[in-house]
Amino acid sequence: MSSITPRYSRITGTGSYLPPNRVSNEALAAQLARDGVETSDDWIVERTGIRARYFAAPDVTSSELAVHAARHALEAAGRTAADIDLIIVATSTPDMVFPSTACILQNKLGAFGAAAFDVQAVCSGFVYGLTIADSMIRSGAATRALVIGAEVFSRILDFKDRTTCVLFGDGAGAVVLEASDQPGILATDLHADGRHVEILCVPGNVSGGQVLGDPLLKMDGQAVFKLAVGVLESAARAVLHKAGRSEADIDWLIPHQANIRIMQSTARKLKLPMDKVVVTVAEHGNTSAASIPLALDVAVRRGQVKRGDTVMLEGVGGGFTWGAVLLDY
Ligand code: ACO
Repeated sequence: MSSITPRYSRITGTGSYLPPNRVSNEALAAQLARDGVETSDDWIVERTGIRARYFAAPDVTSSELAVHAARHALEAAGRTAADIDLIIVATSTPDMVFPSTACILQNKLGAFGAAAFDVQAVCSGFVYGLTIADSMIRSGAATRALVIGAEVFSRILDFKDRTTCVLFGDGAGAVVLEASDQPGILATDLHADGRHVEILCVPGNVSGGQVLGDPLLKMDGQAVFKLAVGVLESAARAVLHKAGRSEADIDWLIPHQANIRIMQSTARKLKLPMDKVVVTVAEHGNTSAASIPLALDVAVRRGQVKRGDTVMLEGVGGGFTWGAVLLDY
């Protein structure tokens, strides 16, 4: 393909992976009760829509979850690791401070030589990663990318804080994104507002071999909720405008899976019935950067999202970061 030919990028395969340990609300509530932390299935379901989440075993890292998701996506695309020239991993729970989880994954996959780096945009990380991969493919800098969201959020949860520890889970989702003369990705829209760093953060760092600060997640849930519903609507409208499409053209909305009430509110604002919204939060909890590609893969494998469907992906998370990608699948 000539580098001056206008190129698009399109998703040619999806994959995902959840660790085997499914933890229901009841099981989590019983575990927390042993430490004097009170919660219930009723509270969690009513406020969030979450019924269960998956927790990785202590020795399982984000790259380990990612490698399974990546292999499933490669298989679905009919590609091998050797075909890949770009690997982007979106994660806030990397295996190491450095090198990147993408490099560790590249080694596990055997995709040697492919450019590899991580994106840190918390729950918006997959949308950020997909936008970067799309730009690199359209510019001719890459031809076939693996874009992955992988998280072991269980490692940064404070299991004494019931307002946060019931919300998150572990998992990974992946797509293969390839150069194409047909779209593909129609429009993207990314934003951040660093004034809101403190409403959702893990305020620790490593210095002199010691962890400084607190390496566990802190969240002002109500502040996040209010910001999220506003920015998800504006990002959705921005990509529709850029692509010259309207709400009526959306076949599937796949928002970040944080809370069913945020998803319902976004759907209402976009005048979309809930049966056009892919919902996996009930079974997965909030898997941060993994949630969107996990939900996309579930929807593809369930036969919901089909070739030619117009799909809106939307992320929102710590930073504060947010963004949307509109694509023809
Ligand atoms: N079990 C039982 N009771 C609880 C629990 C729990 N797990 N957690 C909080 N409560 C109690 C509170 O203590 C409070 O009690 P009080 O009234 O006696 O003070 C009561 O429930 C209500 O608490 P609120 O915080 O007002 O509950 P709210 O309805 O706001 O729901 C929630 C909290 C679910 C966190 C909600 O605010 C939310 O979903 N926010 C958005 C979070 C989000 O989307 N985060 C993802 C961003 S992703 C990323 O970037 C990592």
